Amino acid sequence: VDPRTSRQPPDNSPLQIFVKAKKKINDIFGEIEDYVKDAVEYMHEIEKLQDIVEKENVKKSAEFVGKVHGIRDVLSRDHMKVAFFGRTSNGKSSVINAMLRDKILPSGIGHTTNCFLQVEGSPSDEPYLVLEGSTEHCAVESVGQLAHALCKEKLSESQMVRVYWPRNRCLLLRDDVVFVDSPGVDVTPNLDEWIDKHCLDADVFVLVANAESTLMVTEKNFFHKVSTRLSKPNIFILNNRWDASATEPEFLDQVRRQHQERAVDFLVKELKVCTPKEAEERIFFISAKEVLQARLAEQGHTASTPLTEGFQNRYFEFQDFERKFEECISKSAVKTKFEQHSQRGKFIANELREILDDIYNGAQKLKDEKLKQKKDVNDKINYTEEQLIIITQEMKQKIHNMVEDVEQRVSKALNE
Ligand code: GTP
Ligand code: MG
Repeated sequence: VDPRTSRQPPDNSPLQIFVKAKKKINDIFGEIEDYVKDAVEYMHEIEKLQDIVEKENVKKSAEFVGKVHGIRDVLSRDHMKVAFFGRTSNGKSSVINAMLRDKILPSGIGHTTNCFLQVEGSPSDEPYLVLEGSTEHCAVESVGQLAHALCKEKLSESQMVRVYWPRNRCLLLRDDVVFVDSPGVDVTPNLDEWIDKHCLDADVFVLVANAESTLMVTEKNFFHKVSTRLSKPNIFILNNRWDASATEPEFLDQVRRQHQERAVDFLVKELKVCTPKEAEERIFFISAKEVLQARLAEQGHTASTPLTEGFQNRYFEFQDFERKFEECISKSAVKTKFEQHSQRGKFIANELREILDDIYNGAQKLKDEKLKQKKDVNDKINYTEEQLIIITQEMKQKIHNMVEDVEQRVSKALNE
């Protein structure tokens, strides 16, 4: 058991909704692939014997084999994608690291994220990264190296660097969650390009806000743009750096209420992406830095640091966020990704059934015709037999009569 993952509850995570659904739909497509292959083989067989299969239909069915294979291929690469946005230094990279329970992404001073970074699970034991437009695997051992590799390259802020991290080091990566970290929304004029390139297939968006200030126009604008491109995107708002509130306990409740109200208004009234009740499950007050520190210490990577007042509550709230996030992303991904596959699967199954029905009907017709022909022949034979019987009987009678006549004549002649 890997010590880095041993403390995580193994399989009661809501992510299993997606993992199990993926396995099940993959099994179903495995069966469909077998059926389609069998059907095509069968069509080729009877094609040789009888003229009841249309060439066009055989061709169409053979194409289904490739289509089903294609669906299985896409299915194996289907994942749950979460994208993090917010202003520079709000703690986007820190939140991702806290969720991954490891310092994977560079963060902090001198480590401003300057391009899109996608972290996904890799089956190999060694982490590596791949730059956009390249297939070369660059090995990375540590965050330092990763940061160095990212600085060395002249990357534009909308480019994507993929970080492949060993699946066995993190449950979220093992369960097919893909994380996208971004540069601050305040540093780019190219928000539209970002959305087109990196956001359209995201299942969940996380706005990492700074609890020490209020939601900014640049942050709001970005999500306004997102919600014009996607219908009701799933958005979570994390008020990060909530540990800062510990220094001013007298304002804590008041500040929290104010942030909460504004965030609810933003989701419900401005973006209209959820109801007020749903919004309550989407807004959290956390400290990514504390959670990461605590998790690293838990695993013995670093010495534990003194806890700030209220740490436990913030830690619980982070865990609460993680659970709600997992539920939301797995349900959303099952719906958006697998619904398409099952529609296409149903379409293929229906088409194939119609083709097989055609063949069955053709075969039935042929059988009926043959039966009819046989019956006609039989009828003829019966008629001939009957006629023969009649004729033979008549003949018998005639011969009998003739014999009698001859006998009579003979005896008459003899008498005479
Ligand atoms: P860019 O990549 O530059 O856009 O920033 P970012 O949003 O990724 O922020 P990053 O994670 O690099 O964090 C910026 C700084 O804030 C780092 O020094 C973090 O340690 C610190 N930080 C992050 N989260 C918290 C938090 O919850 N509390 C406190 N006190 N500091 C935090
Ligand atoms: Mg960053």
